[in-house]
Amino acid sequence: MKAKSNSSLNRAAKVKNDEFYTQLVDIEEELKHYKEQFRGKIVYCNCDDPFESNFFKYFAANFRALGLKKLITTSYTKSPIAGGQLPLFEVEGLKPSGKEPFKIEINEVPDSNGDGSINLDDVRFLLRHDKNIATPLQGTGDFRSDECVGFLKEADIICTNPPFSLFGDYIAQLMEFDKKFLIIGNKNSITYKDVFKHIKANRLWLGYRNINSDMWLLVPEGEKYEKIVDGKKLKHIMACWYTNLDTSKRHEEFVMYKKYTAEEYPKYDNYDAINVDVVADIPMDYDGVMGVPITFLDKYNPNQFELLGSNRDRDQDPAGIYGRSSILNGKEKFKRLFIKKRKSKK
Ligand SMILES: C[S@@+](CC[C@H](N)C(=O)[O-])C[C@H]1O[C@@H](n2cnc3c(N)ncnc32)[C@H](O)[C@@H]1O
Repeated sequence: MKAKSNSSLNRAAKVKNDEFYTQLVDIEEELKHYKEQFRGKIVYCNCDDPFESNFFKYFAANFRALGLKKLITTSYTKSPIAGGQLPLFEVEGLKPSGKEPFKIEINEVPDSNGDGSINLDDVRFLLRHDKNIATPLQGTGDFRSDECVGFLKEADIICTNPPFSLFGDYIAQLMEFDKKFLIIGNKNSITYKDVFKHIKANRLWLGYRNINSDMWLLVPEGEKYEKIVDGKKLKHIMACWYTNLDTSKRHEEFVMYKKYTAEEYPKYDNYDAINVDVVADIPMDYDGVMGVPITFLDKYNPNQFELLGSNRDRDQDPAGIYGRSSILNGKEKFKRLFIKKRKSKK
């Protein structure tokens, strides 16, 4: 048998890394902070097979409670789970053949059983009785296709967990169309230049979830998992929420308590910046440049600190200073962000 080339193996690994599914509890935990910002809005989940995505389930069941104007969800042909390997939401007889990509569009969820509240039973009833809600797509459902870009343009807020391997393209598209968004991505993406440049320019920040608390995502049948909870196979992923919806978190003042000493905060061998290993230890009285772990972003208030660069890539800061590796006593310090306190207004 012919051996697989490295590049095709890499491609396969990338595709595999895209197939993790978000738990409802993680969506609920984050989304509860933005209720007012969703009111009256058109929400689009563009990487979501509605029958398998908890994003669809969340927005459909909370359609009235959130006061949404419309919910659009589109699935993607190539998803290896298309066809129901991870069915979260069964609606017999509705799902087309299970393979073709399709769109679900909801404009209202009536209280079908008259119990005074809207829940998943009402969504199920709606899907079963209104055949116009699910329609096949003309193309593959790729979020970059003209068809899906059309839905994106119509939407106010894009909310999903997109494929990690296409995260740079995904963010670029949101920026190009100037969309509001709340999405999940790998923590490592913070220092990717296609992502970091937007964080630095204050066009993108982290959501409420603590960056140190890894997410447990659902894995499809046949894939490796790390634990089973309530019959669900889960794998932990270093993921966090990325958004451009305002959060109260980014306006909070980060309280510092440590005093600077040259012994405790040595300078890098190759930059005029001190090294800080633990975010909580950022010294309150140092006015120069500091290299801090990426978890600093969880505490980042742009009125309090200036984000100057990251050591991941030279073109991430215009001066080209921070692109080199950060060396401390001859050893490299990985993944550092470079920050400076803003002068407090008197
Ligand atoms: C990380 S999974 C998350 C799925 C779902 N959004 C959720 O949160 O449970 C990413 C999904 O995007 C799909 N996908 C991959 N490439 C895509 C593309 N180019 N356009 C749209 N969806 C894509 C994958 O098949 C996969 O279902």
